[in-house]
Amino acid sequence: MTFKTQFPESKNNNKHIDISLFNQTTHNPSYASLTNNFEKINGLKDFCIPVNTYFPSRSLMDDLYKKIPSALKYYPSSNNLITEYIASFSDIENPKRIIAGNGSTEIISWLNSLFIKDSLFVPVPSFGRWIEEPINLGVKLHTIQYCDSNNQLLSSKKFVEAVLKSGAKNAVICNPNNPTGSIFSRAELLFILRKLDHLDNIIIDESFIDFSSKTPPTIKNDVHLFSNAWVIKSLGKNVGLHGLRMGYAISNENNINKLKKHLPYWNINGISEMLLMLIQKEKLAYDESRVKVIHDTIYLTDRFSELDFFKVFPTNSNFVFARLDSQINGEELRNRLLKNKSCFIRNCENKMGSTKQHFRIAARPKQDVDFLVNAIREEVSKM
Ligand SMILES: Cc1ncc(COP(=O)(O)O)c(C=O)c1O
Repeated sequence: MTFKTQFPESKNNNKHIDISLFNQTTHNPSYASLTNNFEKINGLKDFCIPVNTYFPSRSLMDDLYKKIPSALKYYPSSNNLITEYIASFSDIENPKRIIAGNGSTEIISWLNSLFIKDSLFVPVPSFGRWIEEPINLGVKLHTIQYCDSNNQLLSSKKFVEAVLKSGAKNAVICNPNNPTGSIFSRAELLFILRKLDHLDNIIIDESFIDFSSKTPPTIKNDVHLFSNAWVIKSLGKNVGLHGLRMGYAISNENNINKLKKHLPYWNINGISEMLLMLIQKEKLAYDESRVKVIHDTIYLTDRFSELDFFKVFPTNSNFVFARLDSQINGEELRNRLLKNKSCFIRNCENKMGSTKQHFRIAARPKQDVDFLVNAIREEVSKM
């Protein structure tokens, strides 16, 4: 049995949800803040955060709970040992090319503050930490827009040309991209890395790549061949436990050693370490779980395509990106779904390069998607 794949039973409406929380952050408010620290959950159905709903199993969670007292009482291992668990679980050839982070966001922040100087090129819309943090640190941001008219696709040639034209010294690509679901093939990425080998840094954020296809186009075992290249990967989304904060970067040993000098010795907590140890024997179950998520995404895409007031873009991740007809107010739809149906979907208004008509909807098991599609039909009919 999977650990909590289904939403709790609930009344449909959630009138007490505080919509003003959305004005206080450029990310979306956390599940904890929306639910008063899980006290007033009232069955909030989260289609906002894309996560693996089929992992971990109930028995793995039970094993983890048993270890929590010791994990809390003692210091965790150092980064070096933890990278061995990551390498073995994620099939990365050499643990010395890995650095573990307290969520991939920790590594993103270290790269933003220590490595990315002067200017950065990012296709937009993108994950907020690749946009807001560099801007706040005074880095000049150059962008290219993923377009509705081009089905949110970007060619590798166009990307390279735009980076060269901008003169940016660093570049980031999320592959697949959050929130558009766009992807570059492995061959395209290697082409990009070769063409941009003069940049200070080029970072490929593969946080969602496990949900792109049965054989994801990862460059995790190629990236060390380039002196300026990094792969970033979030583990929380993949193993269904993003509250634990787990992620990592891969690069050549020289880059990894440079970054390690700055990291706290015990940046990974003991519970994450225990989880990483326990999932070693769950590789097959993990693989099956991510394939189930891929099937759920196909179902989600098909069901959303039935809604003629949404334009659904092709996706290579565990969410779909969709644009709502201009006659229907996107923000109002998000709020109505929250308050009247307890469904939380990601309105992308606060993302650079996106609008309040654009939504990212996370894949969930079929019955949840059916609930959402009916909820949307009902709310739109009242608008
Ligand atoms: C593309 C991308 N990278 C990294 C992250 C950060 O993940 P975490 O810090 O939870 O590992 C996110 C979170 O949504 C993301 O969308």
